[in-house]
Amino acid sequence: MININPSEITPEYVYYSRRDFLVGISALLASFMLFGGCRRLDGSSELPGGGSVEPGQVSGKTDELGDALTDYKSIISYNNFYEFSTGKEGIGELAKDFKTSPWTLSVGGLVNKPRTFDIDDLNRIFPPEERIYRLRCVEGWSMVIPWLGFPLAKLLKEVEPKSEAKYVRFESLYDPEQMPGQRSGMFSWPYVEGLRLDEAMNDLTLLTTGIYGKSILPQNGAPIRLVVPWKYGFKNIKSIVKIDLVTEMPTSLWMAAAPHEYGFYANVNPEVPHPRWPQSSERRIGEFGRRRTIIFNGYAEEVAYLYQGIDLRKFF
Ligand code: MTE
Repeated sequence: MININPSEITPEYVYYSRRDFLVGISALLASFMLFGGCRRLDGSSELPGGGSVEPGQVSGKTDELGDALTDYKSIISYNNFYEFSTGKEGIGELAKDFKTSPWTLSVGGLVNKPRTFDIDDLNRIFPPEERIYRLRCVEGWSMVIPWLGFPLAKLLKEVEPKSEAKYVRFESLYDPEQMPGQRSGMFSWPYVEGLRLDEAMNDLTLLTTGIYGKSILPQNGAPIRLVVPWKYGFKNIKSIVKIDLVTEMPTSLWMAAAPHEYGFYANVNPEVPHPRWPQSSERRIGEFGRRRTIIFNGYAEEVAYLYQGIDLRKFF
């Protein structure tokens, strides 16, 4: 994103109210996924490189605003994953042999019960539920994605943050042998992101292991990836290996690379232009023309309370 080439679902008989879409059909999907209905949850993929474009089971066709789901093929073939490439296309192919099993996620720092989980542990302890969220990239494009995941808050409660913990720091895998982009000195690897603890505890904030009823593919951040729908896409850190509770605001990869362009909060705000991309509108992948960008990406009701008294212009 810096100076490089820029590169919601049950059977339909289930009705979703605005809140219900958040709760989803966890039990149905979890059992479907865990007991052989479709993809394995160990992070391995039956779709090397995203070769098949058949989506799995989802509960509906739109999000709570009535926006249509982005088609599966676009979700798995138009990506940002700088560890593999600065381009957006072909990441599925580049990442097709990415080893996502075995995989561990260690959760520590300022917590009473530090713990290392494998992906099976996570799916067993926190059964995945479906959430349909809009994803808005700071580059001005967006998608509507049916995720399978669980609230980060559940994981954090499990490890018991200490009272001194104010922020959550996330780290992606560092493995230059598997990730060719990490062999360049363009960024200070690994990819790091952060949230304030109260943002992390908000019910919208997810750790995801699936998309469209299937295990998440490497190009989308397998085997586990953060989703924070009211923030720009780059906060949604992929292929996470480490989560730490800390006192100081973490410096993200993007804040370190271009501090004049990327700030910590990065909440979607149509009124604050990025130095290189206006933010007032966006191109929804699969649509012609542009649509108006909505403050907090349409999730103000759920998250605006987090920013009372904060200068909303400080988003970058
Ligand atoms: N996480 C890691 N580790 N590396 C990345 O390059 N790119 C971010 C984010 N998470 C990125 C990442 C950016 S810029 C965006 S817009 C989203 O992932 C894109 O997610 P998608 O490819 O699943 O659409």
